Amino acid sequence: VIAFFTPQCLAGHKLLITAGPTFEAIDPVRGITNHSSGKMGFAIARAAREAGAEVTLVAGPVHLPTPRGVHRINVKSAQNMLEAVMQRAQAATLFIATAAVADWRPAAAAEQKIKKDGSGQMPVLHFVENPDILATVAQSQHALVGDLFCVGFAAESHDLLQHATAKRARKGVPLLVGNIGPATFGQDDNALLLVDAHGHRELPRASKRELAQQLVADIAARLAQRSD
Ligand code: CTP
Ligand code: CA
Repeated sequence: VIAFFTPQCLAGHKLLITAGPTFEAIDPVRGITNHSSGKMGFAIARAAREAGAEVTLVAGPVHLPTPRGVHRINVKSAQNMLEAVMQRAQAATLFIATAAVADWRPAAAAEQKIKKDGSGQMPVLHFVENPDILATVAQSQHALVGDLFCVGFAAESHDLLQHATAKRARKGVPLLVGNIGPATFGQDDNALLLVDAHGHRELPRASKRELAQQLVADIAARLAQRSD
């Protein structure tokens, strides 16, 4: 299917999209995060809005302007992000997970700032795994009956096709979009690899804005095919 971006190609659809990093507190003044800029997710939110979708953007801590006409919800931790997403997933027809969710968080954030005690002893951090937001949404009844189309992202440093193919199956999503990272973090351009049950297709290097439009057009074509 050849897909073109048009101002109405996602009309009638409700997109829920995650973007940016998460921030996992260690204590009131410190935490663990990552270098995700949020740019790709914000570009997709903008493109989807320009394609006629109603867009809710659940964003981790990033300093990016909210695209015009997009409803933005700011969150910090993976748990906050999961909660914000689950509250809104039922109303959505399309879910795109671009957020770089922290895989682990400190098991308990200290209530007070951790101080050096003068002994030279280092604090030891214990971690627990964060919930998998994409897998949780993809396994929800709303998605399983086909009313919510789920799209995952993956940044991989090597063997992109193999990792993206395995990740698509593991997450249980029809479409997984891969890119080679972390080289693209914060950059204004990127190249994407679209992996579905039938194979893969590359969107060659372009600006994140152009890639977002191409991806939106591709997803719109998939949604239109499904409803035929
Ligand atoms: N994701 C998510 N919640 C998590 C981890 C990942 O929603 N706790 C989503 C991301 O937004 C992305 C996809 O899952 O759409 C793949 O994320 P990635 O970090 O590449 O996959 P992981 O399963 O965490 O595997 P790993 O980091 O070990 O490669
Ligand atoms: Ca991860």
